Amino acid sequence: MSEHDALIEAARTARENAHAPYSKFRVGAAVRAKSGRIFTGCNVENATYGLTICAERVAIYKAISEGEREFDAVAVFTGADKLTPPCGACRQIIWEFCGDAQIVLANLAGRVEIHRMLELFPFPFDGTHL
Ligand code: THU
Repeated sequence: MSEHDALIEAARTARENAHAPYSKFRVGAAVRAKSGRIFTGCNVENATYGLTICAERVAIYKAISEGEREFDAVAVFTGADKLTPPCGACRQIIWEFCGDAQIVLANLAGRVEIHRMLELFPFPFDGTHL
């Protein structure tokens, strides 16, 4: 039992709703607000490919649209043996809203790794530069 079990389980369940007919790569994500609420997302692909949105951004935008502004952890869950880290675009969005949050990577085989945003995304551009 770890402090991230509920977050990982939420991401695992969200992955079941993935719309990934093109890549067949199903991703679930969950973000934990400092209020304790957990918001989930899955990847939603599009026939244009380029309009695809990742699971992490779906989860974060759902939370933002519900009024949450502070987060402390993001989980990314896939079926891949090699754990799936957030893509570059998602790292920029995670930094915007979650700062140096914990990034919890997990898979169906039960592997779990915990990283921090500043390790995955050093020297970020953000609102402090404007
Ligand atoms: N994908 C995510 O949803 N999150 C990631 O962290 C990596 C990639 C999705 C986008 C696309 O639907 C599929 O995985 C393959 O790139």
